[in-house]
Amino acid sequence: MFKEIKPTEITNYKNAVDLFGQGAVTMVRKGETANPMTIAWGSLGVLWRVPCLSVYVHKTRYSKQLFDQADRFAVCFFGKEHASQLSYFGSASGRNEDKVLKSRLTLKEEDGYFLFEEAELVVFCEKMGQTDFDIDKIKPKPILDWYRKDGVHTIYCGKIIKAFRKE
Ligand SMILES: Cc1cc2nc3c(=O)[nH]c(=O)nc-3n(C[C@H](O)[C@H](O)[C@H](O)COP(=O)(O)O)c2cc1C
Repeated sequence: MFKEIKPTEITNYKNAVDLFGQGAVTMVRKGETANPMTIAWGSLGVLWRVPCLSVYVHKTRYSKQLFDQADRFAVCFFGKEHASQLSYFGSASGRNEDKVLKSRLTLKEEDGYFLFEEAELVVFCEKMGQTDFDIDKIKPKPILDWYRKDGVHTIYCGKIIKAFRKE
């Protein structure tokens, strides 16, 4: 059972660094199902006066194509017992397989968003905007080398619409 919480309560539960560090999956629509992708990068804060959550998706991910077409996305935060599914979502690509099916987790659709029932915390976001990192402004050399070789991440800024935590 999930209980709806206010956006301001998300970090009562755990601070943002630990939340993204522990295991997070972003979910975006792929036809009639969703494509889950493990993320370690994320920000929680305020943008254009509304509570927001941003994710960072590299251009080589299949999720990038889906995010570009989507008007919403969800982020599910998991406990350590789901480490194997997180590792799977972070290595396999939705280009080649149905990751939801293979994970054996329980997908649910609500208000046009997808979530996993096994998650500890779920955040629904409406896409407010997106932008690519400007490669000419990147300072750390290893990141710059990586971006020159493989391309940059896109930042997707989401307005927090709803948040739920496991009761
Ligand atoms: C722990 C972990 C964290 C990750 N964090 C991110 C991230 O924040 N952004 C990103 O673009 N890729 C990240 N990845 C890589 C993607 O999850 C991975 O490339 C995935 O297979 C992409 O799936 P897709 O092709 O279905 O979109 C991470 C992978 C792991 C294992």
